[in-house]
Amino acid sequence: MEKPWKNTITELLGCDYPVISGPMRLITLGRMAAIVSNAGGFGVIAASGLSREDLVRELRIARSLTARPFGVNIPVYRPNAAEALEVCIDMGVRVVYTSAGSPAKFMDAIKRAGLRVIHKVSSMDMARKAQSAGVDAVVAMGFEAGGHIGREGVTTFCLIPALVRALRIPVIASGGIGDGGGLLAALALGARGVEIGTALVVTAECPVPEFFKEAIVQSASNATVVLGREAMPIRVLRNIVTSRVAGMDDAAADRAIAAQGDARYVADGGTRDTAVMPCGQVAGLLAGVVPVDELLSGMITGARSVLESLGSIVCGGRP
Ligand SMILES: Cc1cc2nc3c(=O)[nH]c(=O)nc-3n(C[C@H](O)[C@H](O)[C@H](O)COP(=O)(O)O)c2cc1C
Repeated sequence: MEKPWKNTITELLGCDYPVISGPMRLITLGRMAAIVSNAGGFGVIAASGLSREDLVRELRIARSLTARPFGVNIPVYRPNAAEALEVCIDMGVRVVYTSAGSPAKFMDAIKRAGLRVIHKVSSMDMARKAQSAGVDAVVAMGFEAGGHIGREGVTTFCLIPALVRALRIPVIASGGIGDGGGLLAALALGARGVEIGTALVVTAECPVPEFFKEAIVQSASNATVVLGREAMPIRVLRNIVTSRVAGMDDAAADRAIAAQGDARYVADGGTRDTAVMPCGQVAGLLAGVVPVDELLSGMITGARSVLESLGSIVCGGRP
């Protein structure tokens, strides 16, 4: 393994490499967070959909599997957000990762407890507000990402440098990253870390059905579709059920999904035809299922080898 990197993000989060697990509801729980942290990245438990007892259990599982730091994602609009934050503070979590709403309402409690906070954004406006609220870093998600994405449709390649220029706090790039070239490109754009979601789904340890991993591996980069464009856009794999609702307005899409009966979020079951599978365009670059530590070490060594070959191009050598 490469020797640990040292930059503002590794120091903020306490990890070896600035590669962060994207939170995924009912998927990135205690075990997955520990596996990512043990591989040198920063694991994140998604608190969304967990009761107080569930979250306590997942934190204990993570603690039993790693001595390294990991974080907890709290979507702030959820009714149990305050309760999840309370659990994090009580159980000594050092980094909370807020999303889906303004972090301002929890900032006093977070800072009083001495926690660090990163916040997910998808636009300049959200990023400026998060900085004013006092977050330590933003995770900026481009439109090519899997899962819920911004309404403004700005891609990672344009969002990251704009935020880096405008903000004083570090930026973590998210959306479309799944290998060493992507990691290096994000750093070149001014990000100081990356978040990965779709690439993490196709790891051996990821607790999703095999058909989901197979579907991603077999997909090209045009295999996704964005649902709910006007309200809460979400990028998912195209299949029978999502093709049916694509292009409908949100209410009609909700009715269509409800009428489908067995259509549901992939972590709750379903089949390759009926499950709603959040997935980013980076699916087109993912060729197989690998263990988490192989994914992370491949990104780190890959970034170095791309850098070396770029060095010769930029210095006038041959590609
Ligand atoms: C299967 C799946 C489920 C996700 N669920 C959530 C979620 O519950 N909350 C959240 O903030 N982001 C969620 N995301 C987004 C990821 O946290 C991450 O931001 C995104 O996947 C990064 O883009 P990428 O897929 O191109 O790597 C999900 C992504 C995927 C692929």
